[in-house]
Amino acid sequence: MKNKLLITGGAGFIGSHVVRLFVNKYPETNIVNLDALTYAGNLANISDIAEAPNYRFIKGDITDGAFINRLFQEENFDGVIHLAAESHVDRSISDPLSFIMTNVVGTANLLNAARDIWKNNMEGKLFYHVSTDEVYGSLHRPEDFFLETTPYDPQSPYSASKAGSDHLVRAYHNTYKMPVVISNCSNNYGPNQFPEKLLPLMINNILKGKPLPVYGKGENVRDWLFVVDHARAIDMVYHQGKNGETYNIGGFNEWKNIDIVHLLCRVMDRKMGQAEGSAAGLIAYVTDRAGHDLRYAIDANKIMKELGWEPSLQFEEGLEKTIDWYLANQKWMDEITSGAYQQYYDSQYSER
Ligand code: NAD
Ligand code: DAU
Repeated sequence: MKNKLLITGGAGFIGSHVVRLFVNKYPETNIVNLDALTYAGNLANISDIAEAPNYRFIKGDITDGAFINRLFQEENFDGVIHLAAESHVDRSISDPLSFIMTNVVGTANLLNAARDIWKNNMEGKLFYHVSTDEVYGSLHRPEDFFLETTPYDPQSPYSASKAGSDHLVRAYHNTYKMPVVISNCSNNYGPNQFPEKLLPLMINNILKGKPLPVYGKGENVRDWLFVVDHARAIDMVYHQGKNGETYNIGGFNEWKNIDIVHLLCRVMDRKMGQAEGSAAGLIAYVTDRAGHDLRYAIDANKIMKELGWEPSLQFEEGLEKTIDWYLANQKWMDEITSGAYQQYYDSQYSER
């Protein structure tokens, strides 16, 4: 029975939902949330569980190998769920080295520290890497889906760095017999997502009457999953996943970017009490993302059949919940979009 769990990146979007679920569901498990609180990390995302007796927050950077070694020696974790990462593809295009440092070197530091404290007895230990479907590259035929056996073909510095970290996890399993699992998930949406990502960016811009930048012709396809359903899947993979296995996670819910933006605009018009077509009037086609992957689509049959997971929400319901959360949390949005982020955003658009 694992009872000392490290979750990395728990102040970020997905990590905050994972930490909340684990802290509330497993009162006997001592959970440490390690996060560097980069621009994407925000303790407000998990303020509701900050005082829970089975929970502690530690601010720290996974790229600092000496610190990570000390932390593992002192805390003697028997499980790790690793989510900390640089996660935004556009930033990986303008600043690839930060992605290699955090996603590759940071993951290597965690694996190495875990190997050091577990090397005499790997029994009952588990290193779980939360990864992305982007490692599989881009689909071009409508009948194709990403399977767990699809060869890796990453196309962006972000996806290459996540592929690199997946390979390191497998190498530690093969070489040192470290118990590991990996999951590769499609695009998440929901509360707490930083407004650099498509849906919260569009919601924020509609609220502020700013242009809605659709890359290229808006023909790229993404497969969307509500973040709480991802967190539920992570719980199942952590507790029931088979040692050494990979699980793809996705909602069989593909949308062209332009279609999802139009749907979002219609719901926002209704919620804001404005004439239909108002929000869509803000759509602006802009220069495409460099190397933009055309289509991602996950075949989630393995996790559904082997672990009994399935998404709990229909997309339209998840989208309503998400929009309602952003409408009720405009202070959260205003705080994180002020200052440094606003400067980054403005500089991106002066370049497009
Ligand atoms: P996010 O950017 O919202 O959060 C990342 C968190 O990691 C932040 O809290 C940040 O402070 C922390 N962090 C970053 N660098 C760090 C460092 N050097 N040391 C310690 N902490 C650091 O990301 P997210 O969207 O929640 O993604 C979480 C994980 O899930 C990532 O590994 C990502 O690759 C993966 N993933 C994301 C999606 C998605 O749609 N967002 C889909 C599949 C997989
Ligand atoms: O597939 C999983 C991945 O999904 C995760 O691993 C990443 O961490 C996560 O950021 C996400 O990557 P994407 O690049 O797919 O997400 P993003 O929200 O940045 O973009 C979604 C699509 O919308 C993509 O085709 C690019 C497009 N887009 C994005 C932005 C921010 C626009 O057209 N305009 C925009 O302003």
